[in-house]
Amino acid sequence: MTARIIDGKQVAAQMRLELKEQVDRLKEKGIVPGLGVVLVGEDPASKSYVTAKERACEEIGIYSDDNHLHAQTSQKDLLGLIARMNSDPNIHGILVQLPLPRSLDESQVLLAIDPAKDVDGFHPINVGKMVTGQEAFLPCTPHGVVQLLVRSEVRLEGAHVVIVGRSNIVGKPLANMLIQKNKTGNATVTVCHTKTRDMALHTRQADILIAAAGSPHAITADMVKPSAVVIDVGVNRVADPSKKTGYRLVGDVDFEAVKEKASLITPVPGGVGPMTITMLLYNTIQAALRHRVNAVT
Ligand SMILES: NC(=O)c1ccc[n+]([C@@H]2O[C@H](COP(=O)([O-])OP(=O)(O)OC[C@H]3O[C@@H](n4cnc5c(N)ncnc54)[C@H](OP(=O)(O)O)[C@@H]3O)[C@@H](O)[C@H]2O)c1
Repeated sequence: MTARIIDGKQVAAQMRLELKEQVDRLKEKGIVPGLGVVLVGEDPASKSYVTAKERACEEIGIYSDDNHLHAQTSQKDLLGLIARMNSDPNIHGILVQLPLPRSLDESQVLLAIDPAKDVDGFHPINVGKMVTGQEAFLPCTPHGVVQLLVRSEVRLEGAHVVIVGRSNIVGKPLANMLIQKNKTGNATVTVCHTKTRDMALHTRQADILIAAAGSPHAITADMVKPSAVVIDVGVNRVADPSKKTGYRLVGDVDFEAVKEKASLITPVPGGVGPMTITMLLYNTIQAALRHRVNAVT
């Protein structure tokens, strides 16, 4: 059996069309969703992520307030900028691109963001709301994974999902979302990590296997149950002299071998990646909608 490929670019493009329609409707009511973007320093990967986010905002009509600060920016100045954006009614969401330079206290910065504008969903208030099943901004990458599954008509209710990885930005929130008692949850979830004994024993039981380890070829075909759904969150650079850049991007899954065993699989690139920015746009629009409701009530 050769797996059907889940085309993340196509799903993301469809969602962005839907989001643009929502933005157009908000604009008719005089509301322009706004995203405050903060980039500190010159890290090339962070710069390219931020550029992609700003471009995506522009494409669907979200206003982005771009703040590119030099690497020596002080904690006080950064907190001052966040305070300004917290009180700016034209900014509904705030995104601080991580990682920050070592001289800055990342957790203090994330805590300073108004939870009502925390469109990355990293503030402990939003994390707590998510875990307890309340309305919250959901972190973009795990939310993108859930949307990919739902829009590919994968049944989550009752499914055994095995997640490889327990980071605060992917594995842990994803596990929490999938066990919620709601229509995009109700799965039974196992979470594996580097201290898991006999990982293949667990992964072979997965109806849905999600790799978020950051380790190329961590998932090989012998670790996958026949007809499983396989979602690869990993993005890893491996040396490739045939490329101009000298490297190529691969996921955590041995794609060529696993696609012969799985029923559905995401590629890297072109799987989960395009969904992450899409969910940031989604959260920013949600923030603008909630701001409007709060302004009216
Ligand atoms: N496509 C996107 O938009 C997107 C967004 C975010 C991240 N990513 C990618 O997703 C991957 C994970 O990101 P992250 O931020 O969650 O990474 P991370 O913070 O490094 O966490 C990796 C997790 O995987 C576990 N792990 C690593 N190697 C393993 C192995 N061989 N077997 C079992 N568990 C293993 C680690 O276990 P321990 O906790 O025991 O160390 C850790 O919990 C990375 O490749 C990243 O680039 C992609």
